[in-house]
Amino acid sequence: MPSPAHSAAKGREVSADLPSSWRIVVLASGSGSNLQALLDAASPDWSVVGVVTDRPAVGALDRAELAGIPSAVVSWGDYADRDAFTEAIAGAADSFRPDLIVLAGFMRILGAAAVERFRGRIINIHPSLLPAFKGGHAVHDALDYGVKTTGVTVHFVDEELDHGPIIAQEAVEVLAGDDEATLHARLQKVEHRLLPEVVQSLALGQPEVVGRKVEGRVKP
Ligand code: GRF
Repeated sequence: MPSPAHSAAKGREVSADLPSSWRIVVLASGSGSNLQALLDAASPDWSVVGVVTDRPAVGALDRAELAGIPSAVVSWGDYADRDAFTEAIAGAADSFRPDLIVLAGFMRILGAAAVERFRGRIINIHPSLLPAFKGGHAVHDALDYGVKTTGVTVHFVDEELDHGPIIAQEAVEVLAGDDEATLHARLQKVEHRLLPEVVQSLALGQPEVVGRKVEGRVKP
């Protein structure tokens, strides 16, 4: 749960007996390069305090271990259905007492219960300019469609896939001769800068969300 210091006001208040640094929990499924970007960018205002993955033996777990950050694995296959999996993932994330949960390459769809539990405190990074190219093959789909510009989106998570209110976006040009690997590499360069910028910005003061609109420019 967010500390009262953070939930009570838009701006950040610091009090003697409350932690002044936001606790970030990262959910990941793969190599964890975005997790690494967050680990490297930690500031006095926030840091990664826990990592949860849906698979054992993924790069994200190695990165967490190297950084001395505790982690938990909640394997999809161990649960009867999405609701049970969601409950387990949400419980694991909550055990790290997050102020903010970041889905950074987390490839499972969480049930509505998790969205309800963490609404306004859970964000996702996606490698396209949403609402274009939702889903797990955004880079391939953008190339396939022939767009000249794609990009990166960071958004609050809601009940629909890659859909919640958009916090920040940045465009990336598609170059002649790009394949999925070259384009994804340029997108990831942007991701690794944009995601920590957004986290820093949120830690300094929660923006107002009115319907789909995230008020103000959420960048430091
Ligand atoms: C990123 O491109 C992210 O946008 C997408 O999955 C990829 C994860 O990469 N959702 P990594 O595991 O952070 O390296």
